[in-house]
Amino acid sequence: MKFPAIALIVAGLLSAGIALAADAAKAPAAKTEAAKPAAQAEAPKDAATIATTVCAACHNADGNSVITVNPRLAGQLPEYITKQLNNFKSGERANPVMGAMAASLSADDMVKLGVYFGAQKPKSSNAKENGPGSLGEKIYKGGVAAKGLPACASCHGPTGAGIPVQFPRLAGQHADYTVIQLKAFRSGERANAPMMKVIAGKMSDQDIVAVADYIQGLR
Ligand code: HEC
Ligand code: HEC
Repeated sequence: MKFPAIALIVAGLLSAGIALAADAAKAPAAKTEAAKPAAQAEAPKDAATIATTVCAACHNADGNSVITVNPRLAGQLPEYITKQLNNFKSGERANPVMGAMAASLSADDMVKLGVYFGAQKPKSSNAKENGPGSLGEKIYKGGVAAKGLPACASCHGPTGAGIPVQFPRLAGQHADYTVIQLKAFRSGERANAPMMKVIAGKMSDQDIVAVADYIQGLR
Protein backbone atom coordinates (compact mmCIF):
# COMPACT_ATOMS: atom_id res chain seq x y z
CA MET A 1 0.00 0.00 0.00
CA LYS A 2 2.81 2.41 -0.75
CA PHE A 3 1.14 4.03 -3.75
CA PRO A 4 -1.54 6.09 -1.95
CA ALA A 5 1.05 7.53 0.41
CA ILE A 6 3.20 8.59 -2.52
CA ALA A 7 0.19 10.04 -4.31
CA LEU A 8 -0.65 12.07 -1.23
CA ILE A 9 2.85 13.42 -1.00
CA VAL A 10 2.65 14.45 -4.64
CA ALA A 11 -0.75 16.05 -3.97
CA GLY A 12 0.74 17.93 -1.03
CA LEU A 13 3.66 19.20 -3.08
CA LEU A 14 1.31 20.32 -5.82
CA SER A 15 -0.96 22.14 -3.41
CA ALA A 16 2.02 23.95 -1.94
CA GLY A 17 3.58 24.86 -5.25
CA ILE A 18 0.84 25.96 -7.60
CA ALA A 19 -0.67 29.42 -7.62
CA LEU A 20 -4.21 29.80 -6.30
CA ALA A 21 -6.18 30.33 -9.48
CA ALA A 22 -4.32 27.79 -11.59
CA ASP A 23 -4.68 25.19 -8.88
CA ALA A 24 -8.41 25.63 -8.60
CA ALA A 25 -8.81 24.93 -12.30
CA LYS A 26 -6.25 22.16 -12.80
CA ALA A 27 -5.97 20.15 -9.63
CA PRO A 28 -9.20 18.14 -9.79
CA ALA A 29 -8.46 16.71 -13.24
CA ALA A 30 -4.81 16.11 -12.41
CA LYS A 31 -5.73 14.07 -9.34
CA THR A 32 -8.22 11.69 -10.92
CA GLU A 33 -5.64 8.95 -11.48
CA ALA A 34 -4.19 9.29 -8.01
CA ALA A 35 -7.67 8.83 -6.54
CA LYS A 36 -8.12 5.30 -7.82
CA PRO A 37 -6.04 3.17 -5.45
CA ALA A 38 -7.68 4.51 -2.28
CA ALA A 39 -11.16 4.49 -3.81
CA GLN A 40 -10.77 0.87 -4.96
CA ALA A 41 -9.42 -0.40 -1.66
CA GLU A 42 -12.09 -2.62 -0.10
CA ALA A 43 -13.50 -1.44 3.22
CA PRO A 44 -11.93 -3.97 5.60
CA LYS A 45 -13.17 -5.21 8.96
CA ASP A 46 -10.21 -3.81 10.84
CA ALA A 47 -11.04 -0.21 9.88
CA ALA A 48 -14.59 -0.71 11.14
CA THR A 49 -13.19 -2.14 14.37
CA ILE A 50 -10.88 0.85 14.92
CA ALA A 51 -13.70 3.22 14.04
CA THR A 52 -16.26 1.69 16.37
CA THR A 53 -13.91 1.10 19.31
CA VAL A 54 -11.64 4.18 19.15
CA CYS A 55 -12.88 6.95 16.84
CA ALA A 56 -16.53 6.52 17.83
CA ALA A 57 -15.94 8.17 21.20
CA CYS A 58 -15.63 11.56 19.51
CA HIS A 59 -16.73 11.15 15.89
CA ASN A 60 -19.53 8.54 16.37
CA ALA A 61 -19.24 5.14 14.74
CA ASP A 62 -20.88 6.49 11.57
CA GLY A 63 -18.73 9.63 11.50
CA ASN A 64 -21.61 11.98 12.31
CA SER A 65 -20.12 13.50 15.45
CA VAL A 66 -22.55 15.15 17.83
CA ILE A 67 -20.16 17.40 19.76
CA THR A 68 -19.76 20.39 17.50
CA VAL A 69 -16.01 20.96 17.89
CA ASN A 70 -15.41 17.40 16.66
CA PRO A 71 -15.63 17.33 12.87
CA ARG A 72 -18.07 15.18 10.98
CA LEU A 73 -16.19 12.61 8.91
CA ALA A 74 -19.18 10.89 7.27
CA GLY A 75 -19.11 11.28 3.49
CA GLN A 76 -15.76 13.13 3.55
CA LEU A 77 -13.36 12.41 0.67
CA PRO A 78 -11.34 9.31 1.67
CA GLU A 79 -8.07 10.80 0.37
CA TYR A 80 -8.61 13.96 2.44
CA ILE A 81 -9.18 11.93 5.64
CA THR A 82 -6.03 9.90 4.96
CA LYS A 83 -4.01 13.09 4.34
CA GLN A 84 -5.18 14.63 7.61
CA LEU A 85 -4.30 11.47 9.58
CA ASN A 86 -0.81 11.52 8.04
CA ASN A 87 -0.49 15.22 8.85
CA PHE A 88 -1.60 14.68 12.48
CA LYS A 89 0.94 11.87 12.85
CA SER A 90 3.80 13.90 11.37
CA GLY A 91 2.79 17.01 13.34
CA GLU A 92 2.30 19.04 10.15
CA ARG A 93 -1.24 19.56 11.47
CA ALA A 94 -0.51 20.02 15.15
CA ASN A 95 -3.31 18.82 17.44
CA PRO A 96 -2.58 17.04 20.74
CA VAL A 97 -5.72 14.86 20.69
CA MET A 98 -5.52 13.74 17.07
CA GLY A 99 -1.73 13.53 17.20
CA ALA A 100 -2.09 10.91 19.91
CA MET A 101 -4.82 9.09 17.96
CA ALA A 102 -2.83 8.98 14.72
CA ALA A 103 0.44 7.94 16.39
CA SER A 104 -0.62 4.29 16.55
CA LEU A 105 -2.15 4.12 13.06
CA SER A 106 -0.20 2.59 10.17
CA ALA A 107 -0.25 4.11 6.68
CA ASP A 108 -2.53 1.25 5.67
CA ASP A 109 -4.93 1.91 8.59
CA MET A 110 -5.15 5.57 7.50
CA VAL A 111 -6.13 4.62 3.96
CA LYS A 112 -8.73 2.14 5.21
CA LEU A 113 -10.20 4.55 7.77
CA GLY A 114 -10.56 7.11 4.97
CA VAL A 115 -12.50 4.60 2.90
CA TYR A 116 -14.63 3.59 5.92
CA PHE A 117 -15.67 7.10 6.98
CA GLY A 118 -16.01 8.28 3.38
CA ALA A 119 -18.60 5.55 2.80
CA GLN A 120 -20.79 6.61 5.76
CA LYS A 121 -23.94 8.62 5.07
CA PRO A 122 -23.58 12.25 6.18
CA LYS A 123 -26.39 13.75 8.25
CA SER A 124 -27.54 17.25 7.39
CA SER A 125 -27.87 20.34 9.59
CA ASN A 126 -29.32 23.81 9.18
CA ALA A 127 -27.76 27.25 9.13
CA LYS A 128 -28.80 29.36 12.13
CA GLU A 129 -28.91 32.73 10.36
CA ASN A 130 -27.08 32.47 7.04
CA GLY A 131 -29.66 31.24 4.58
CA PRO A 132 -30.39 32.70 1.11
CA GLY A 133 -29.27 36.31 0.68
CA SER A 134 -26.97 36.24 3.73
CA LEU A 135 -23.36 37.37 4.04
CA GLY A 136 -22.37 33.70 4.44
CA GLU A 137 -23.99 32.77 1.14
CA LYS A 138 -22.39 35.73 -0.65
CA ILE A 139 -18.91 34.76 0.54
CA TYR A 140 -19.41 31.09 -0.24
CA LYS A 141 -20.81 31.57 -3.74
CA GLY A 142 -19.09 34.74 -4.91
CA GLY A 143 -16.26 35.66 -2.54
CA VAL A 144 -15.52 39.32 -1.80
CA ALA A 145 -13.83 40.94 -4.80
CA ALA A 146 -12.76 44.05 -2.89
CA LYS A 147 -10.71 41.89 -0.48
CA GLY A 148 -9.46 39.47 -3.11
CA LEU A 149 -11.35 36.71 -1.29
CA PRO A 150 -12.20 33.91 -3.74
CA ALA A 151 -15.52 32.07 -3.77
CA CYS A 152 -15.36 28.97 -1.60
CA ALA A 153 -17.54 27.22 -4.18
CA SER A 154 -14.74 27.41 -6.76
CA CYS A 155 -12.74 24.78 -4.88
CA HIS A 156 -15.24 23.12 -2.53
CA GLY A 157 -18.09 22.88 -5.07
CA PRO A 158 -21.40 24.77 -5.25
CA THR A 159 -23.07 22.45 -2.71
CA GLY A 160 -19.97 21.91 -0.57
CA ALA A 161 -19.58 18.32 -1.72
CA GLY A 162 -15.86 18.85 -2.33
CA ILE A 163 -13.85 18.02 -5.45
CA PRO A 164 -11.79 14.79 -5.34
CA VAL A 165 -9.15 14.34 -4.25
CA GLN A 166 -7.72 17.58 -2.94
CA PHE A 167 -10.66 19.80 -1.97
CA PRO A 168 -12.58 18.47 1.03
CA ARG A 169 -16.31 18.23 1.53
CA LEU A 170 -17.62 21.08 3.71
CA ALA A 171 -21.39 20.53 3.45
CA GLY A 172 -23.12 20.06 6.79
CA GLN A 173 -19.93 20.46 8.82
CA HIS A 174 -20.46 21.83 12.34
CA ALA A 175 -20.08 25.62 12.26
CA ASP A 176 -18.15 25.59 15.56
CA TYR A 177 -15.52 23.27 14.05
CA THR A 178 -15.29 25.31 10.81
CA VAL A 179 -14.77 28.55 12.76
CA ILE A 180 -11.91 26.93 14.72
CA GLN A 181 -10.26 25.72 11.49
CA LEU A 182 -10.56 29.03 9.62
CA LYS A 183 -9.04 30.89 12.58
CA ALA A 184 -6.29 28.25 12.86
CA PHE A 185 -5.48 28.62 9.14
CA ARG A 186 -5.40 32.42 9.55
CA SER A 187 -3.08 32.36 12.57
CA GLY A 188 -0.84 29.70 11.03
CA GLU A 189 -1.65 27.25 13.84
CA ARG A 190 -2.97 24.83 11.17
CA ALA A 191 -0.11 24.86 8.71
CA ASN A 192 -0.92 21.91 6.43
CA ALA A 193 -2.75 23.88 3.75
CA PRO A 194 -0.94 26.91 2.26
CA MET A 195 -3.93 27.80 0.06
CA MET A 196 -6.28 28.04 3.02
CA LYS A 197 -3.82 30.19 4.99
CA VAL A 198 -3.90 32.79 2.21
CA ILE A 199 -7.70 32.63 1.96
CA ALA A 200 -8.42 32.75 5.70
CA GLY A 201 -5.99 35.67 5.97
CA LYS A 202 -8.44 37.75 3.93
CA MET A 203 -11.38 37.02 6.25
CA SER A 204 -12.63 39.01 9.25
CA ASP A 205 -14.10 37.25 12.28
CA GLN A 206 -17.53 38.30 11.00
CA ASP A 207 -16.85 36.73 7.58
CA ILE A 208 -15.68 33.50 9.24
CA VAL A 209 -18.73 33.15 11.49
CA ALA A 210 -21.12 33.91 8.60
CA VAL A 211 -19.60 31.50 6.08
CA ALA A 212 -19.25 28.71 8.69
CA ASP A 213 -22.95 29.05 9.51
CA TYR A 214 -23.85 28.92 5.81
CA ILE A 215 -21.67 25.83 5.29
CA GLN A 216 -23.43 24.02 8.14
CA GLY A 217 -26.70 24.34 6.19
CA LEU A 218 -25.31 23.08 2.87
CA ARG A 219 -26.38 19.59 1.76
C1 HEC B 1 -10.90 12.24 22.04
C2 HEC B 1 -11.68 12.66 20.88
C3 HEC B 1 -11.24 12.11 19.51
C4 HEC B 1 -11.02 10.79 19.14
C5 HEC B 1 -11.12 9.54 20.01
C6 HEC B 1 -10.73 10.83 17.72
N1 HEC B 1 -10.79 12.12 17.26
FE1 HEC B 1 -10.47 12.72 15.34
N2 HEC B 1 -10.69 14.67 15.91
C7 HEC B 1 -10.97 15.10 17.18
C8 HEC B 1 -10.94 16.55 17.22
C9 HEC B 1 -11.20 17.44 18.45
C10 HEC B 1 -10.61 16.98 15.91
C11 HEC B 1 -10.42 18.42 15.42
C12 HEC B 1 -8.95 18.78 15.57
C13 HEC B 1 -8.68 20.22 15.20
O1 HEC B 1 -9.36 21.10 15.73
O2 HEC B 1 -7.80 20.44 14.35
C14 HEC B 1 -10.47 15.76 15.12
C15 HEC B 1 -10.17 15.76 13.76
C16 HEC B 1 -10.09 14.62 12.98
C17 HEC B 1 -9.89 14.60 11.55
C18 HEC B 1 -9.77 15.82 10.65
C19 HEC B 1 -11.10 16.03 9.96
C20 HEC B 1 -11.16 17.21 9.05
O3 HEC B 1 -12.28 17.50 8.59
O4 HEC B 1 -10.13 17.83 8.77
C21 HEC B 1 -9.85 13.30 11.16
C22 HEC B 1 -9.66 12.78 9.75
C23 HEC B 1 -10.04 12.49 12.34
N3 HEC B 1 -10.19 13.32 13.43
C24 HEC B 1 -10.08 11.11 12.33
C25 HEC B 1 -10.14 10.34 13.48
C26 HEC B 1 -10.01 8.89 13.48
C27 HEC B 1 -9.81 8.03 12.24
C28 HEC B 1 -10.09 8.49 14.78
C29 HEC B 1 -9.94 7.08 15.33
C30 HEC B 1 -8.67 6.44 15.06
C31 HEC B 1 -10.27 9.69 15.59
N4 HEC B 1 -10.30 10.78 14.76
C32 HEC B 1 -10.42 9.71 16.97
C33 HEC B 1 -11.25 14.31 18.26
C34 HEC B 1 -11.09 12.94 18.33
C1 HEC C 1 -8.10 27.64 -4.23
C2 HEC C 1 -8.88 26.57 -3.68
C3 HEC C 1 -9.67 26.85 -2.40
C4 HEC C 1 -10.58 27.87 -2.18
C5 HEC C 1 -11.00 29.00 -3.10
C6 HEC C 1 -11.10 27.63 -0.83
N1 HEC C 1 -10.52 26.51 -0.29
FE1 HEC C 1 -10.91 25.74 1.55
N2 HEC C 1 -9.55 24.26 1.24
C7 HEC C 1 -8.79 24.11 0.10
C8 HEC C 1 -7.94 22.95 0.26
C9 HEC C 1 -6.93 22.42 -0.75
C10 HEC C 1 -8.21 22.40 1.53
C11 HEC C 1 -7.61 21.13 2.13
C12 HEC C 1 -6.52 21.45 3.12
C13 HEC C 1 -5.79 20.20 3.55
O1 HEC C 1 -5.49 19.36 2.70
O2 HEC C 1 -5.49 20.10 4.73
C14 HEC C 1 -9.23 23.26 2.11
C15 HEC C 1 -9.74 23.07 3.39
C16 HEC C 1 -10.72 23.87 3.96
C17 HEC C 1 -11.28 23.68 5.28
C18 HEC C 1 -10.89 22.58 6.27
C19 HEC C 1 -11.93 21.49 6.21
C20 HEC C 1 -11.84 20.54 7.36
O3 HEC C 1 -12.63 19.57 7.35
O4 HEC C 1 -11.02 20.72 8.27
C21 HEC C 1 -12.20 24.65 5.48
C22 HEC C 1 -13.07 24.87 6.70
C23 HEC C 1 -12.24 25.46 4.27
N3 HEC C 1 -11.32 24.95 3.37
C24 HEC C 1 -13.09 26.54 4.09
C25 HEC C 1 -13.06 27.38 2.98
C26 HEC C 1 -13.87 28.57 2.85
C27 HEC C 1 -14.84 29.06 3.90
C28 HEC C 1 -13.56 29.12 1.64
C29 HEC C 1 -14.09 30.41 1.04
C30 HEC C 1 -13.89 31.62 1.82
C31 HEC C 1 -12.57 28.25 1.01
N4 HEC C 1 -12.29 27.21 1.86
C32 HEC C 1 -12.03 28.46 -0.24
C33 HEC C 1 -8.84 24.91 -1.02
C34 HEC C 1 -9.64 26.01 -1.20
